Amino acid sequence: MISGSPLYRPYEGLVEISILGKSFQVPEKNTCLRAFQFVAPESIPYGRFCWNQECQLCRIGYTMEMGPKPAVHPVLACKILVAHGMKIVELSNELKLSLGPILKNRRL
Ligand code: FES
Repeated sequence: MISGSPLYRPYEGLVEISILGKSFQVPEKNTCLRAFQFVAPESIPYGRFCWNQECQLCRIGYTMEMGPKPAVHPVLACKILVAHGMKIVELSNELKLSLGPILKNRRL
């Protein structure tokens, strides 16, 4: 599959990430914020996001590790690219607001 949408950077497949413990398939080679838009197309575009690393409203914390105390890396979702196995464990309030309905209705 190759994306034809101008919203996303070209991608050939999906990668699995988790957001607060819930799994999603999202386009590879795209930022986390675009991945969030992929799973929540009705709400992310209406968030107050600048999309260019200025507003800081897209802050997340992620880990690639397993175990009881994994290192959490604070980053901007509009800057970092998704990676298979990425676990997003912290969301800014703006992201919680935008992703809330998706996370609430999703099975673990
Ligand atoms: S969306 Fe503004 S800093 Fe990421």
